[in-house]
Amino acid sequence: MNTHHHPIGFFDSGVGGTSIWKEVVELLPHENTLYLADSKNAPYGKKSKEEIIQFSIKNTEFLLNQNAKIIVVACNTATTNAIEILREKYDVAFIGIEPAIKPAGLVTQTKKIGILATQGTLNSTLFETTSGKIDPEVTIIEQVGEGLVDLIENGQIDSPEMNALLETYLQPMMHQNVDALVLGCTHYPYLIPQIRLILGESIKIIDSGLAVARQTKHILQQQGLLQTQTIAKTSHQFYINKEASVLHRLLNNSQVSIEEKAF
Ligand code: DGL
Repeated sequence: MNTHHHPIGFFDSGVGGTSIWKEVVELLPHENTLYLADSKNAPYGKKSKEEIIQFSIKNTEFLLNQNAKIIVVACNTATTNAIEILREKYDVAFIGIEPAIKPAGLVTQTKKIGILATQGTLNSTLFETTSGKIDPEVTIIEQVGEGLVDLIENGQIDSPEMNALLETYLQPMMHQNVDALVLGCTHYPYLIPQIRLILGESIKIIDSGLAVARQTKHILQQQGLLQTQTIAKTSHQFYINKEASVLHRLLNNSQVSIEEKAF
């Protein structure tokens, strides 16, 4: 059966994974996509590992029922807590996203890097393993981005509350002389303008979006599932189990279809 036209499935705890979706669609413009925003259960970052696994299974089954040919886990918290289980349980390929600690470790001159991520990601075994692999001379300054996902989900992206939280989280890192900041949550790329204002120009901001898009392309190619032909109109279907206004705002694109749906 020809399944090239089947969609690439994405899920996240909410709207943040659209930052990954945008990178993938830019790199693979002929692909159909399907995106699940589990905003009702956001933030995942404060949930137990068991709960995150259950949400990830539910999201995966939804996407598979809609014929997803590959699944992008567009959430660091779900990847670091659940991707191993998903890979054991299902035949489809999963692309995960992890904080870009390794690239940050390679570019730092001060040997100090900062990471902003959810508690669920920073506490995970996978994150511990990844951070254990970088140059031991490099110090990683970890900061939980408590409250950031909630504000983004509520549409308060450029709000005084957001700026105050970011100041609180980033100033201590700057005092410790970090020269690279890893964004370890797919919601955070939407905060880059405010983060840039606080950090100034000399500190690098590193996220994993492009790397995930390239990996998705690579795996689709390897599995012979890449949609190489131009199709008349690609389909981009979004489902969200909460009110959709923030999703509309972030996508700001008439080429997508957004449906509020209980799941
Ligand atoms: N976008 C998710 C991530 O990358 C947010 C997690 C959350 O809901 O706390 O980690």
